[in-house]
Amino acid sequence: MGTTDMIGKLLCRIRLLLFIVVGLTLVGWASFYMKDSICFTPKYRTLLQNVWKSPLSEKKTEDNSRSPLVEQTSQKKVDLKTCPILSPKLKGVVPLMFPPNLTLADVEKKFPMMRDGHYQPETCKAQQKLVILIPHRNREKHLLYLLDNLLPFLQRQQLDYTIYVIHQAGNLTFNKAKLLNIGYLEVLEKQNWDCFIFHDVDLVPENDFNTYYCDSEPKHLMVGRNVTGYRLRYKENFGGVIAMTREQIAKANGYSNNYWGWGGEDDDFYYRVQLGKMEVLRPAREVARYRMLFHTRDAGNQVNQKRWELLKNVSKVWKTDGLNSCTYELLSIEHNPLYINITVDVGKPHH
Ligand SMILES: *[C@@H]1O[C@H](CO)[C@@H](O)[C@H](O)[C@H]1NC(C)=O
Ligand SMILES: *[C@@H]1O[C@H](CO)[C@@H](O)[C@H](O)[C@H]1NC(C)=O
Ligand SMILES: *[C@@H]1O[C@H](CO)[C@@H](O)[C@H](O)[C@H]1NC(C)=O
Repeated sequence: MGTTDMIGKLLCRIRLLLFIVVGLTLVGWASFYMKDSICFTPKYRTLLQNVWKSPLSEKKTEDNSRSPLVEQTSQKKVDLKTCPILSPKLKGVVPLMFPPNLTLADVEKKFPMMRDGHYQPETCKAQQKLVILIPHRNREKHLLYLLDNLLPFLQRQQLDYTIYVIHQAGNLTFNKAKLLNIGYLEVLEKQNWDCFIFHDVDLVPENDFNTYYCDSEPKHLMVGRNVTGYRLRYKENFGGVIAMTREQIAKANGYSNNYWGWGGEDDDFYYRVQLGKMEVLRPAREVARYRMLFHTRDAGNQVNQKRWELLKNVSKVWKTDGLNSCTYELLSIEHNPLYINITVDVGKPHH
């Protein structure tokens, strides 16, 4: 009596177990074959990706995880492989072109894949989302030459980038540093940028091994220019082309808003980076080379005679003069295929 009862119970358990096994197999089979067609939430998609990762892609992720900035970006779109830090399309030094009769239409024709200043590689997922800020006024020709040479350069580096031109309206004294602060503040909420590039309009990079990536510390990408024999003139020189994350810029409280006219603002920014307990990194001199386009001193951008006085006071004022005190009037935002133009009234110096 007791034994048949026990056998009956056992059979019942075996049947139950079979049901569970068959059930699980079916679910597993279904989700395996349908994983591409089912609309999973992004988080689950990443989980799946990790579970079904091939050894090759696993190795790739390992290689890329050296950079601390990679992880947050690599999960957004899992269909493409992550682009390597050193793109296979790099060519090193490519001859630069400055055709005298170049027009914006010519440049636009060369880059039909760009919309609203944005480009992303087609064959892989870039590791960082870049925003390039170019302060500008009355240098249309330089902007054209920069775009014509910089766009193919960035595309060879397989970067995901968006270009913003920050244009100072009117004829009053130019304030490059304030334009960069404004650019930062205006684009901050538009996307989850990994890297900000501050780019002078008259500097054209010569060597595409000078990668436009952000690092664990602020990066000074322009070490040498043809006009200075490709030498860094002094250690505090921190101008031209800079790559910094949003946090690094915030830690320095951005630039000072008080440098009107030419000179001093970049050195001031160097001190702010130091005061924010950061260190400036520079790529090898052999690759961090730029051509500086020739121009005479612009009207409204005279040498700033107050710069030495201002530079003495950086440590006293940097926490109250910068991103947190930047006031301006936004006049217009214009979307072009190759860049978004933000026109602002920066005001004028208080005397
Ligand atoms: C620019 O000028 C060169 C000659 O100097 C000519 O060959 C070329 O076709 C011109 N390009 C355009 C777009 O007009
Ligand atoms: C700026 O200066 C130019 C001449 O240099 C003049 O034609 C133009 O009207 C001025 N613009 C403003 C907004 O004052
Ligand atoms: C630097 O390069 C630019 C662009 O090729 C050129 O116009 C300029 O004259 C050069 N300057 C010097 C000092 O070589």
